[in-house]
Amino acid sequence: MSGRSRDGAGLYDDPDFLDGYRHLRRTGQGINDELEIPAMDAVLRTLPVAGARVVDLGCGEGGLAVRLAKAGAADVLAVDASQQMLAAAVQHPRVRYQRADLTTFDLPPGSADLVVSSMALHYVENLDTLLARTAHWLSRSERKHPPGEAGSPPAARVVVPGGAEARPIEREPASSWGEAPRVGREPSSSGGEVTRVEREPSSSGGEVTRVGRGASSGGGEGLPRAGGALVFSVEHPVMTAAVAVDCGVDDYADEGRRERTWFVEGVVKYHRTIGSIVGSLRRHGFQLELIDEPLPTREQAAAHPHLAIHRRRPPILLVAARRTS
Ligand SMILES: C[S@@+](CC[C@H](N)C(=O)[O-])C[C@H]1O[C@@H](n2cnc3c(N)ncnc32)[C@H](O)[C@@H]1O
Repeated sequence: MSGRSRDGAGLYDDPDFLDGYRHLRRTGQGINDELEIPAMDAVLRTLPVAGARVVDLGCGEGGLAVRLAKAGAADVLAVDASQQMLAAAVQHPRVRYQRADLTTFDLPPGSADLVVSSMALHYVENLDTLLARTAHWLSRSERKHPPGEAGSPPAARVVVPGGAEARPIEREPASSWGEAPRVGREPSSSGGEVTRVEREPSSSGGEVTRVGRGASSGGGEGLPRAGGALVFSVEHPVMTAAVAVDCGVDDYADEGRRERTWFVEGVVKYHRTIGSIVGSLRRHGFQLELIDEPLPTREQAAAHPHLAIHRRRPPILLVAARRTS
């Protein structure tokens, strides 16, 4: 079909699109199994998932929601607009599925400890308002039983794809979420504040950039007790901008709606710069904890030739942030 636009909320119920997408996922030809899922799980393993009330935005068939439930989350509310995706979703006693459009979906303040989203938020036109709502759900002052406090369930295991690296999640104080960044001062590109940046190997063979802010928390001392955490992956802004055949990036500064052909014509996605995403997070009271760009190693690209293109430009942006109040 041509000449038709397909918004994210209805896209995954389009039979032509869904056939292509499911084939991609079934055959492992996408970026999910090799790049996105391992990187997402590496971040989630550093969080006190046990006992947490989790919300998964754009859950699809529930892979991430079920991994978190198996890791000990007390309750996972998994939200998606697609009837077809939800109809095929994997069932788990602690996962509740809800059909809703993320454009308007809302929850009471303080009702979540952890919000996650895997490769869905680039379909949402107004990310800023969604992040504003998310900040309220994660509001620390209104959360009843922060994980890691007395009364929360015991530690559980995170199931890592492949199973080999599974390790227990400690019921640790939430303030030890992630590793404290080592101090290294440089000018911030997003507002002139001092930002600490540390590069280290990432789960995916690339590097993780850990970012910490503020002048008084060097080495992690003085970090506030963690509020609720937000972890999400999106199509990398380099991809959503416009990528020419030669892999050059174009129109990066022009944020907003894009129409792309992906199995079908007219697939609508929304481009935002990294600075704009970070700015929205900060505006709504989030402290940025980590930015990762999962990339294939040379070995992965050799073993899975469909990944080779992703060494030329990053396919995924993975962000972790937390509410501090
Ligand atoms: C690429 S899939 C990812 C699914 C799942 N998170 C995963 O990683 O397997 C994107 C999902 O976002 C959902 N989605 C897109 N736009 C949405 C919207 N406005 N409201 C709710 N769900 C939406 C789609 O229905 C689809 O299931």
